[in-house]
Amino acid sequence: MRNSETSAALQYHNATKHSQESLLAGPRFLDMANRPIPYKIYSSLEPIPLPTDFPLSDVAALDAIATFNTVPSDERIPDLQTLAQLCFFSNGITKWLRFASGALFPMRAAACTGALFHIELYIVCGDLPGLSAGIYHFGAHDNSLRQLRIGDFRQVLVQATAAQPAIAHAPAIMVCTSTFWRNAWKYRPRAYRHTFWDDGTILANTLAIAAATRVPTTIVLGFVDESVNRLLDIDVQHEAAVNLVALGHTNQEAPAAPPVVPLHLPTAQLSPKEVDYPQIWAMHQASSLTTEAEVAAWRGRPSLPEHRPSSSPREPLIPLSPLDPAALPNDPIETVIRRRGSTRQFTQEPISFAQLSTMLTHSLHSIPSDCFDPIGTPMSDLYFIVNAIDGLTPGTYVLHEEKQALEFLRAGNFGYEAGHLALDQELGMDAAANIYFMADLESVLARFGNRGYRVAQLEAAIIAGKLYLAAYAFRLGATGLTFFDDEVTAFFSPHAAGKSVMFLIALGHPYKRVRR
Ligand SMILES: Cc1cc2nc3c(=O)[nH]c(=O)nc-3n(C[C@H](O)[C@H](O)[C@H](O)COP(=O)(O)O)c2cc1C
Repeated sequence: MRNSETSAALQYHNATKHSQESLLAGPRFLDMANRPIPYKIYSSLEPIPLPTDFPLSDVAALDAIATFNTVPSDERIPDLQTLAQLCFFSNGITKWLRFASGALFPMRAAACTGALFHIELYIVCGDLPGLSAGIYHFGAHDNSLRQLRIGDFRQVLVQATAAQPAIAHAPAIMVCTSTFWRNAWKYRPRAYRHTFWDDGTILANTLAIAAATRVPTTIVLGFVDESVNRLLDIDVQHEAAVNLVALGHTNQEAPAAPPVVPLHLPTAQLSPKEVDYPQIWAMHQASSLTTEAEVAAWRGRPSLPEHRPSSSPREPLIPLSPLDPAALPNDPIETVIRRRGSTRQFTQEPISFAQLSTMLTHSLHSIPSDCFDPIGTPMSDLYFIVNAIDGLTPGTYVLHEEKQALEFLRAGNFGYEAGHLALDQELGMDAAANIYFMADLESVLARFGNRGYRVAQLEAAIIAGKLYLAAYAFRLGATGLTFFDDEVTAFFSPHAAGKSVMFLIALGHPYKRVRR
C-alpha cells in the first residue's frame, strides 16, 4: 500500500474507534502477568550516566512553550549537559509514585496513555563538547546514554530527509520511536494512535526545554522510514521511528557516514510473550515514505485547503482575553515539568476565562517543523465543553484561531455528556473545560497522504502537551482522556460534521488529597 492510497488511514481510523459496542465486544481483563516493562534496556552496553540536578533556567514555563525557536545564522552546538537536560525533561523519570502496598512506580516527565511509556529517544550526533560522534540510546531507567554506533552517521539522516535544511545543519538529531507492543498490551490496535499522542506530549517538553536552553529545534516527519529504522537497527515489526528533531545549528556539513551494518545488540525482554496487532504494522507501512524523491515531493506539496471551523461564524464572537504578561506565573519550565502529573480528580471549581485564554494563546503556535504551519492555524479545530469557566456561559464553543475568538455554539450544562464522551469517566464531567481537537481527516490525507494521519495526530498532541504545561504553570490540573469517537462528532454536529477527534484534554482544578 502506498502513502497516496489514503483509504488505509481511514480504514485504520474507523476500525479503532471506541463505541459502546466495541467496548462491550472487547476483552474484559488485562493480562497483568504479561505487562511489558516500561523501558528499552540494552543489556550489553556500558551506561554513560547523565546528571539530573540541573540549574534552573530563567525562562518561565509559559514563555518557554510559546517560544518559536528559529534557526540562528550563527553556530549553536549543544553539549552533553544540554542533551542530558533535553532527554531528562522529555522522557526521564521525574518522580516515583508510592502505592498503598509500598511499591514504587516510576513516573515520567510527560503524560503517557496508561503510564506504559512506550516512546524511546535516540541521539545521532557529530563530535559534541563532552560526547563523541555516534548514535546513542537514552535509557530512562538509569538516566544514561548507551552508545550503539561509533562515528558520525548524521549524513544518513540528511539523505533520509531529502536534505531537510534543519537536519542538514544539525550537530545533533533526536529520533523518537515507539515500541508498539508496550502500549498495545493494553490498548491493542488503538495503540498506533497513542504513538503520536504520547510522542506529542514528550515533544511539547522537548520544545520548551530547547527554548530554555536556547537550542534551535525543528521537528521533522518527512523521512525515508526504512533508512532511519535501519540506522537505529530496530526491528520494524516491534519498534519504528516516528519523528526526528534537529537540535542546534552548525554551518559545517556532516561528513560521509560510515557503513550502516547490522548490530544485533541484545535488549531486555519486554514481557513473557508479545501479541501481534497487524493493523498497527499495516497502518505504519501504509504511511511510510520509501525514497528520497518521495520525501522531497511530500514536503514540497501545497499547504492545506481552507478548512476553518466555519467561514461565517455566529456573531458576536467572544475574543480571547489573556492575562497581562506582568500577571503571569513565572516558575521556570524545569520546575513546572517536575510538578506535572495527570490530574486524577477535578474539583468542579471554575477557572477564569483569562487563564483559559492565556493557556490557549501560549500553546497554539511555535512548533517549528517540516509540515505543521508554525504560525498559522493548526490542522485541528478546537471544540469545547465549558462546565465552569468564570466569564463564559456553560455550553459548547469552537475556537476561531485566526480571529483569536470563541464562537458560542450551544448553551447548557453538559457535564454529564462530557463525562460520557470521555468513556464515562468522571474526569470529563468534573473538569472546568474539555477541549476536543477535531480534524477534517479527508483534507489532511489529501494533502499528506496516509502520513497525514501521523501529522494530524502529532500536531494535536504537541499542542495538548503545551496545554498540560500551561495548566501546571498556573498550578491547575490537566489530563488527556480517551473518547467515544463518533459520539463526539455527533455531539458537536452539525458544526463538526465530517471531523474526527484527534485528542481530548480536560483542564480544571485538581483535587488534592490531604497527606496523612
Ligand atoms: C493522550 C492521553 C490520554 C489519556 N487518557 C486517559 C484516560 O482516558 N483516563 C485517565 O484516567 N487518564 C488518562 N491519561 C492520563 C495517563 O493515565 C497518565 O498520563 C499516566 O498515568 C502517566 O501519569 P502522569 O501523567 O501523572 O505522569 C491520558 C494521558 C494521555 C497523554
